[in-house]
Amino acid sequence: MTATLSQSTATSMAAKKQLFEMILAFVKSQCIYVATRLEIFNLLYDEGELSVDAIAKKTSTAPDRLYFVLRALAHVDVLQEKPGQVFAPTELSNLLATHKGPSMGHLAMHLLEPAQWDAWNALEAALHTGEVPFERANGKGVYEFCRDNDWSGDVFINAMSFFTNHSVDALLDAYDFSRFDTVMDVGGGQGGLIAQIVKRYGCNGMLFDVPYVAATAPAYLEQQGIEPEAINIITGDVFQEVPTGADAIVMKYFISAWNDEDAAKILHNCKKALPPHGRIVLLQAFVPDIDEPKTAPDGIMPGIFAVQINVAVPGGGWRTKKHFQALFEQCGFQLEQVVDTTTNLSAMEFSIAS
Ligand SMILES: C[S@@+](CC[C@H](N)C(=O)[O-])C[C@H]1O[C@@H](n2cnc3c(N)ncnc32)[C@H](O)[C@@H]1O
Repeated sequence: MTATLSQSTATSMAAKKQLFEMILAFVKSQCIYVATRLEIFNLLYDEGELSVDAIAKKTSTAPDRLYFVLRALAHVDVLQEKPGQVFAPTELSNLLATHKGPSMGHLAMHLLEPAQWDAWNALEAALHTGEVPFERANGKGVYEFCRDNDWSGDVFINAMSFFTNHSVDALLDAYDFSRFDTVMDVGGGQGGLIAQIVKRYGCNGMLFDVPYVAATAPAYLEQQGIEPEAINIITGDVFQEVPTGADAIVMKYFISAWNDEDAAKILHNCKKALPPHGRIVLLQAFVPDIDEPKTAPDGIMPGIFAVQINVAVPGGGWRTKKHFQALFEQCGFQLEQVVDTTTNLSAMEFSIAS
């Protein structure tokens, strides 16, 4: 009896521990967000360790309040605390620095900025009405919001470029683009992915995105060591028309933003733009089926991330491979192969069904 009781106490302690961790997870996120916004990780990256007073002075913040945030970050290894309220950078804080190019700091700021946080506050009501929480909270879609707010737009574009840099090498190691003459990245952001495809496989590159995003591509491509004219940058709206000229279309984290009806419109336009032997290479994290592992090799849990995507955009909370396959088949495509990589990204290659 005693053994059974103490066993159940231990079990419930383990369960409570698990829940404490989950319930308080937002505190870590918010501390990361605010320290990134205040450029504290940039400061420590450049200057090494600094006292809380020095950091407060440089960031125009109150040292006693700031200390709680920095101490919490040190408790989870984002910073290192030394005697005398001195803080030093760590491997984690350096990954969050935003002044050396797209980083995890941009991702943190994009996911945690007030407009997104407001969307989470609208989730309960939106679950009842079926609205997109971000649209309910902000009166417009996330792409329009980012277009209309410079800081949000800049952070969003950089967050996407970080994600590309994070996964591109593993993708290009696993998936061979050399058999294509011209690859077009639809919704390709600043062009990081198409730049690397062109560099590694020597095919021609096309980049298609909305004007405010594509406008940032030439400077970004130049930073990547790509001559801007090596990639044909085209602006437009995928719901109007997809440009012709490519024998392969890649779409990374693009179609997942849309519900099935809109995704079908996009696939229809892609089909019109491709030659009969053309391919679509869908690049995504896929939500696992019930019997599949829940965590990708890089630690991302697609089923968790999917909620964030669903709070922000109309898309189907990401999809399983089977769901994507069915969607593409309904639109006249057939699955050729699935290639997994060592990050959260997998490739599903589709041909036009005969
Ligand atoms: C979630 S981001 C993904 C960006 C990039 N593929 C990546 O993985 O880093 C979606 C992209 O689709 C673009 N986009 C949104 N609506 C679009 C439209 N109607 N036509 C073309 N591109 C669009 C956005 O500007 C953004 O760059």
